[in-house]
Amino acid sequence: MAEPERGTVVDERYRLDRKIGSGGMADVWLADDTELDRKVAIKILHDRFAQDAEFVERFQREAQAAAGLQHPNVVGIFDRGAFDGTFFIAMEYVDGPSMKDLVKGGMSPKDAIDFTRQILNAARFAHRKGIVHRDLKPQNVLIDDEGRARVADFGIARAGENSDITATGSVMGTAQYISPEQAQGKPTTPRSDIYSIGVILYEALTGRVPFEGDSAVAVALKQVSEAPRRPSAINPNVPPALDAVAMRALAKDPDARFKDADAFLKALDAAEKAPDTPRAQDTAAYAAVSPEGEADIPGEEEPYDDEEELERERRRRRWRWIVLALLAAGVAALVAFALTRPSHVAVPDVIGQDVGAATEILDGKGFAVAIKAVPSGAPRNQVVEQDPIPTDRGGGKAEEGSTVTLSVSSGPAIVAVPDVAGLSLADATTRLEKAGFKVTTREEFSITVPKGRAIATEPAAGTQLSTSQVVTVLVSRGTNQVEVPGVVGLDDQAALAALQNAGLSGILVQRDSTEPEGQVLSQSPGAGKLVARGSQVTIFASTGAITVPDVIGQARKAAVTALKKAGFTPAVTEETTDDPSQVSRVISVFPPAGSRGRRGDTVTISVGVASPTTTTTPTP
Ligand SMILES: Nc1ncnc2c1ncn2[C@@H]1O[C@H](COP(=O)(O)OP(=O)(O)O)[C@@H](O)[C@H]1O
Ligand SMILES: [Mg+2]
Repeated sequence: MAEPERGTVVDERYRLDRKIGSGGMADVWLADDTELDRKVAIKILHDRFAQDAEFVERFQREAQAAAGLQHPNVVGIFDRGAFDGTFFIAMEYVDGPSMKDLVKGGMSPKDAIDFTRQILNAARFAHRKGIVHRDLKPQNVLIDDEGRARVADFGIARAGENSDITATGSVMGTAQYISPEQAQGKPTTPRSDIYSIGVILYEALTGRVPFEGDSAVAVALKQVSEAPRRPSAINPNVPPALDAVAMRALAKDPDARFKDADAFLKALDAAEKAPDTPRAQDTAAYAAVSPEGEADIPGEEEPYDDEEELERERRRRRWRWIVLALLAAGVAALVAFALTRPSHVAVPDVIGQDVGAATEILDGKGFAVAIKAVPSGAPRNQVVEQDPIPTDRGGGKAEEGSTVTLSVSSGPAIVAVPDVAGLSLADATTRLEKAGFKVTTREEFSITVPKGRAIATEPAAGTQLSTSQVVTVLVSRGTNQVEVPGVVGLDDQAALAALQNAGLSGILVQRDSTEPEGQVLSQSPGAGKLVARGSQVTIFASTGAITVPDVIGQARKAAVTALKKAGFTPAVTEETTDDPSQVSRVISVFPPAGSRGRRGDTVTISVGVASPTTTTTPTP
């Protein structure tokens, strides 16, 4: 078969659009399903496999079984058939990155748990239907546009089992995720998938796979015989309980792993609830397999039910038999190689010991010791961490003569509290923790610092402090804004109370006004404005006082109007005058202009009238 071209129609139905990927067994194309008018992914088996009748038979059978898997976390298989001398599978097209791409960008423990859960949900579903994946790896976990993990290629890898495929180049990507039993060419079980999911979790937590090497064989060997470092030794943000869960999934002995996806899921739940307290069964059950394949350490049996005992014994016998068979066939050369490797011994627990005593113990077991001084709240010279971690705390065994690194407390250091004002809480915490402090937080309102950012610390930046101490970050809750209530027209005392109830402080300013004494005339800021809690609102209230206007010389009518307007009740008297210019005009006012009074007070004006002598009666 020549490489198909864009536009080629497969099985009279799927029009190939473009090649989106290529794996060890097949090419994957984006195609249009012309019948249902939707996009699909078409996986076309490489030619050389199509020649192998047995392979094709298995491929078809597995595709058939996997076609029955319908689950939100599984990439559905729609169709399969023959094409141009080879075979194809039509499956759901997932438009998104693979988990491998996401892991590269770094992942929080929370996201790592979340994706692992979704993969476990898919595995649980398939395992219950009797289908084992056998090739679980982040490349086979696609993330759809809703951010959901979708596991592809369920069961299909079986077609490759026992065939030449394990010798092809694609195995490298796969070797990093296969279980020790797969690496040894032994039959796979659902617990092999559990191991692979353990590797995916490990990589999601640390950004690294547990075992790397120059060749697939080198990696496979490590899967069989080497103890992984615990995830927290690579990423200190991984809590102890999660460490233990990942390590248990990676147990060399399938029986020491979680018995199924459900048990794995429960352990993740527990680790999330109590991140600092690993469950005994997760740490106790983990043991590195020795190169001979004899995983059992005396006293390791307790965590298991008696009912499982028989089945396990049967499995163990079968396992030995298989190892022998493989050795005889010369297939498991890597097992033979492993046999020649140095022997592995348990790593003693020296955490909490004085560095002198710890060195003596490790020395006695043939380990070399490296010492790293770390400032710590623990007493000086006490071992606070060791790498690899102790075998009985969930670590594996280590090569005899290898180095154990001890982190030894150099006591608390005295350093200046860094200035974190204005930083986001996450950045502030990182900076303070890097400086060696423990961090707590307290929230406060702030008008100047945006919500979620650090206002200051207690003790303040620059304070010289022992690194074992706690520094409190004051985190802004943002400005606490309140709405100014409307108080115009209220009595001043009522207005002040209303402002106080709204979380504001009122300032009273008095103004003369015709309004009754104490009545609020206006306010600033006005009703409905949003202001910071505790800010001031000025209210202008009436003194109730009014002033007599100057109306002298005005015409009677104009003066009366002016007085009324000012709030007074005018009274008019008449006064004879000899001065013609004063006639009909205001001659005097009482109380006089400028006097203060109250609304309704009487103001009397005298209006000039002509004296009779001067106008009508001539002097005799
Ligand atoms: N259903 C699918 N939808 C979208 N892309 C896919 C799908 N299946 C596979 N791919 C892409 O094709 C590539 C090759 O797939 P595959 O042949 O299964 O090899 P591998 O899984 O080893 O990468 C994948 O890495 C992925 O990017
Ligand atoms: Mg794939």
